[in-house]
Amino acid sequence: MRHSILILGGTAESRALAGRLAKDPRVVTELSLAGRTRNPAEQPVPVRIGGFGGVDGLVQYLTERGISILIDATHPYAAQMSHHAAEAAERTGVPLLSLRRSPWIRQLGDRWTEVESVAAAVTAVGADPRHVFLTLGRQELLPFEVAPQHDYLIRSVDPVEPPLTVPHAHYVTSRGPFAQADEVRLLTEHGVEVIVAKNSGGPASYGKIAAARALGIEVVLIRRPDLPQVSSAETVDDLLILLEQRLAHAPPASDSDFSLK
Ligand SMILES: NC(=O)c1ccc[n+]([C@@H]2O[C@H](COP(=O)([O-])OP(=O)(O)OC[C@H]3O[C@@H](n4cnc5c(N)ncnc54)[C@H](OP(=O)(O)O)[C@@H]3O)[C@@H](O)[C@H]2O)c1
Repeated sequence: MRHSILILGGTAESRALAGRLAKDPRVVTELSLAGRTRNPAEQPVPVRIGGFGGVDGLVQYLTERGISILIDATHPYAAQMSHHAAEAAERTGVPLLSLRRSPWIRQLGDRWTEVESVAAAVTAVGADPRHVFLTLGRQELLPFEVAPQHDYLIRSVDPVEPPLTVPHAHYVTSRGPFAQADEVRLLTEHGVEVIVAKNSGGPASYGKIAAARALGIEVVLIRRPDLPQVSSAETVDDLLILLEQRLAHAPPASDSDFSLK
């Protein structure tokens, strides 16, 4: 009997983790995506897409599918999903492990203004017109409509539809990773004066932070949300060590309720 693992994904690490687990004959793995991007990256294990329907839905899913270990490898700003995972794990007794990258740490030369929310970021950018680079999710851009005086450069994976109701906005669609040299070019070409970003951590989107430091550009950084305290690792390798310990203790799903095979 194999262990059935459900990974809550949507990050590069969740994909890398799934790739490692796909080769492990002791487990069968499924990856869950929220369904936010139109053309999600190919995954090395079977994928399910869409919300579970809150904590109750996730509890039902874990139970019906006979999941023996749940891994929360969502983005550090996907706090709702992480809280739902913690609550569902507690209710079902399914062990929960979390893969969370560490945040970026301020380096000498960084001009960071740290704020609590997107709304606070709008205020921090200021009243005077500036060239602003927004690297936020599509759903988080709306608060900037109250500041139409700025000239925006907006980068997202999928097109921002409908576009913001501001007079000056230039849209770029692309998917990371983003190299520092390319970010320097982009910031320079658009005359960017301030970047608004999340402290995502990890290398894929660090290029803009390093580029901002090199060019002396201010970064308004939205602080991370509070996440539930669960057994966590910062890297795929460390998560696999935690998982080994769990595999030694968690019983695999019985054949009768084991539906991921
Ligand atoms: N937030 C970011 O900055 C960011 C950046 C990069 C990637 N992502 C990825 O994008 C997804 C959505 O992020 P978010 O910030 O919108 O999440 P969120 O606010 O924490 O979650 C909102 C709802 O979306 C559904 N959901 C979220 N992640 C899911 C997953 N992996 N599988 C199935 N359902 C999921 C759940 O719906 P139900 O309540 O119906 O179950 C959840 O309650 C996450 O998977 C995350 O890893 C987020």
